[in-house]
Amino acid sequence: MNAFSLTGKTLLITGASSGLGRQTAISASEAGATLILTGRNEVRLRETLEKLSGEGHAMVVADLTVDAQLQSLVASFGMLNGVFFSTGVSTLVPTGFITADKLRIDLAINYEAPVLLTSALLRKKKLQQQDCSLLYMSTVSTVYPFVGGAMYIGARAALEGYARVLALELAPKGIRVNCLRSGFVRTPMLEKTAQLSKVAVEKIENQQPLGIGDPVDVARTAVFYFSGASKWITGTNLILGGG
Ligand SMILES: NC(=O)c1ccc[n+]([C@@H]2O[C@H](COP(=O)([O-])OP(=O)(O)OC[C@H]3O[C@@H](n4cnc5c(N)ncnc54)[C@H](OP(=O)(O)O)[C@@H]3O)[C@@H](O)[C@H]2O)c1
Repeated sequence: MNAFSLTGKTLLITGASSGLGRQTAISASEAGATLILTGRNEVRLRETLEKLSGEGHAMVVADLTVDAQLQSLVASFGMLNGVFFSTGVSTLVPTGFITADKLRIDLAINYEAPVLLTSALLRKKKLQQQDCSLLYMSTVSTVYPFVGGAMYIGARAALEGYARVLALELAPKGIRVNCLRSGFVRTPMLEKTAQLSKVAVEKIENQQPLGIGDPVDVARTAVFYFSGASKWITGTNLILGGG
């Protein structure tokens, strides 16, 4: 058996209607996984479903900041061998303009949604012991920050701290927990930043030793983390793109 294969594994991919979630779903299906896709936009989620290799995949439309939708998502499938937590929004707000409302929205999707989804998966015993990998999307900006990113980067830094505790708690069950600190990648999220400031994106491109990434660069790394080839890796924050 190829240690890098995902054959026989069932994975849940959040944020599967766009960007890194979509590409990771495609690459994981090419590696043999069966996928449950979730996102809010039904049309784009179905587009991802149609791009998958193999059979038996499913999709569930859900807003992960709404508890009832999160709970029905978790009730809709059986045991999982992995979850890719790729939901997120990156809103640029100078620190003096952060308000309680903006902070609540940001934390709800960038921190609370992955944390509460993990709690629900644990409580409902949906994670396969001895063969499960949880992978959280973070950002290289928790190490190399950018102006205006305080809310988003703060939420991601909190998620990294959470994931390290989770790695300790779940290690006895053989469940691995890791974060990807990705550099900037060409996705709709980066396009939105480019619309606000082309200069900021040019600066990012010049600062990343390996340039701006393609979604497949993140997706192939994620496939490795879901495969048996990463069975001795937990509690890490891998920098992608060189920082
Ligand atoms: N792109 C980059 O350069 C980059 C770099 C470092 C880290 N990241 C991180 O990687 C992750 C994915 O980024 P991306 O570039 O793929 O972004 P993206 O293309 O904007 O996709 C974001 C995804 O999050 C989903 N989402 C947002 N709010 C949601 C909610 N309330 N409930 C459920 N789903 C929700 C969206 O679903 P709908 O579209 O269906 O609403 C979409 O599928 C993010 O967490 C981001 O922080 C990205």
